Amino acid sequence: MSAFIRNSPFLHLLCFSLLLRLAVGADPLYHFCSSSGTYTANTPYEMNLNKVKSSLSYKTPFSGFAMVSAGSIPDRVYGLAQCRGDATSQDCKTCVANASDEIKNLCPYNKGGIIWYDNCLLKYLDGDFFHQIDTENIFYLYNVKNITDPVLFNEKTKELLNQLSQQASATWKLFAAGETTFEGSTKIYGMAQCTRDLSNTDCKTCLENAISQLPSCCDGKQGGRVVGGSCTVRFEIYPFISY
Ligand SMILES: *[C@@H]1O[C@H](CO)[C@@H](O)[C@H](O)[C@H]1NC(C)=O
Ligand SMILES: *[C@@H]1O[C@H](CO)[C@@H](O)[C@H](O)[C@H]1NC(C)=O
Repeated sequence: MSAFIRNSPFLHLLCFSLLLRLAVGADPLYHFCSSSGTYTANTPYEMNLNKVKSSLSYKTPFSGFAMVSAGSIPDRVYGLAQCRGDATSQDCKTCVANASDEIKNLCPYNKGGIIWYDNCLLKYLDGDFFHQIDTENIFYLYNVKNITDPVLFNEKTKELLNQLSQQASATWKLFAAGETTFEGSTKIYGMAQCTRDLSNTDCKTCLENAISQLPSCCDGKQGGRVVGGSCTVRFEIYPFISY
């Protein structure tokens, strides 16, 4: 862990942040600023970053994913944006545009940053992070309400998410959503998604790791998410996916 942290551009003293909140669509869910240094205004780095952001805002809504870089080392900027698998291209467009503005307020002159919303994530850095599983930028969200039969519920949730992870990692979109019956008329709804710079194999690894964190994240809760820079799993007892 310490060797890993030393090389990490995102220096989190705590890898995880436990957040108690109910999601509100338009607000960011969370963000991290990188510790890889800062830049100043009117420099090549700023210009490249602006290029990357505007290119991501333009490109991402077409397919829900984009990965771009601009400039030459040491001012080269790498960026990626992805929308939730079921987001419309209009929602995707609004979300990436807002993410791009908001991260500027939250991490004003950091060379890197990552921000998550319900509908999208946006990440940029002064080093190439593409095609690698992001194991550092991870946080949890959960519903404070407890479930009545946690043992069975956790088991069913894990089963659903394992199945969705299989499905997601086997498709080009690296996204899957579905549901299962819990007890009586109660259902569990879930989704699994990876950023599309990952290979199918790495997607699976990332999702398996996210699922393994459910006990620390959301044991016995009515809803929860393990949200990362490369993949996300989520479960709820209400439908949250738009088909
Ligand atoms: C985007 O920003 C606009 C203007 O600040 C705001 O009205 C809207 O709710 C935001 N949408 C999202 C999805 O964040
Ligand atoms: C849920 O359960 C935990 C542990 O059993 C308890 O501490 C907490 O107060 C409960 N939360 C609610 C909202 O009932």
